[in-house]
Amino acid sequence: MSEQITITRPDDWHLHVRDGDFLQAVLPDTAKQFARAIIMPNLKPPVVTVAQAQSYRDRITAALPKGSSFSPLMTLYLTENTLPEEIVKAKESGFVHAVKYYPAGATTNSDSGVRQWSKVEEVLEAMEQCGLPLLVHGEVTDPAIDVFDRERVFIEDQLIPLILKYPKLKVVLEHITTASAVKFVLTADKNIAATVTAHHLLLNRNALFQGGIRPHHYCLPVLKREKHRQALLDAVASGNNKFFLGTDSAPHPQSLKENACGCAGIYTAHAAMELYAEAFDSIGALDKLEGFASFYGADFYGLARNTSQITLTKQQVKVPSQLQYGSETLIPMRAGEFLVWSFNHES
Ligand code: DOR
Ligand code: ZN
Repeated sequence: MSEQITITRPDDWHLHVRDGDFLQAVLPDTAKQFARAIIMPNLKPPVVTVAQAQSYRDRITAALPKGSSFSPLMTLYLTENTLPEEIVKAKESGFVHAVKYYPAGATTNSDSGVRQWSKVEEVLEAMEQCGLPLLVHGEVTDPAIDVFDRERVFIEDQLIPLILKYPKLKVVLEHITTASAVKFVLTADKNIAATVTAHHLLLNRNALFQGGIRPHHYCLPVLKREKHRQALLDAVASGNNKFFLGTDSAPHPQSLKENACGCAGIYTAHAAMELYAEAFDSIGALDKLEGFASFYGADFYGLARNTSQITLTKQQVKVPSQLQYGSETLIPMRAGEFLVWSFNHES
């Protein structure tokens, strides 16, 4: 009999599903595993108002497979023009659950992001007051800073001063990649948490150059050294409720990844829980998977925990070499290779 685990149905606290035909193509992968997901607002143009979040939510709901009970949790994209009144509206809407901070120019569709924190002071005060979390892409954009140091420098130069200025602001440091980020989160107050991706738990930066350049392993923040991957594994294996699941599954057409200037993003939604199970299993911490995947995020966001369950079995399955992505193709993580765990579809 193969090894099996049954856990409360998880949520994904950081997800890109894009729009239109792309949305239609990727959403079923998330909806089959997760009850809810925090939907990133970095569309073109970005989702900056509650009205835009509502219509994006309607498009997502319309793209769900028949019978799915998946709920999208919407976010607003913070710009230097965001008004404090929009924050109040967002909180009152009941369907906008957070505001996303992108440093301008840091990553995919981040041009409308924030250049100066001083331009968003009133907005941050409003968020602190009404308890709407700020989701932080934590990297500096200064080209003079080494790309592998950008998370650490952001924490030291920007995030620490920010939380001192807004001590009650709920902050999620998204997709953490370094021992510095783990240490920062552990020493910060309980209103500061972090999401961790499956790819940052499973891969170190060697994966970018394995026998040649590997564009499908390029994401932001970029993969780091093995010692940082180990720090992330230790963080999630500790069972500390400040660390929870956020896949940052970020689909891009194959043609834009295999390109002279390839896009950042790894697609993991096709096998998200299988990949997390593999990471936790690799360190003997499968007993900590449920808290990380299904409890701590909901608790942080003040939402009820899910009640249904999913089952994973330790059984190899092959990942397709490519997936259809609208009129394009999408190369998923582990394309043409094997997963160690499989998701039981009938549960
Ligand atoms: O790898 C990434 N992909 N990192 C991000 O911050 C954005 C994301 C995307 O939207 O493609
Ligand atoms: Zn992201």
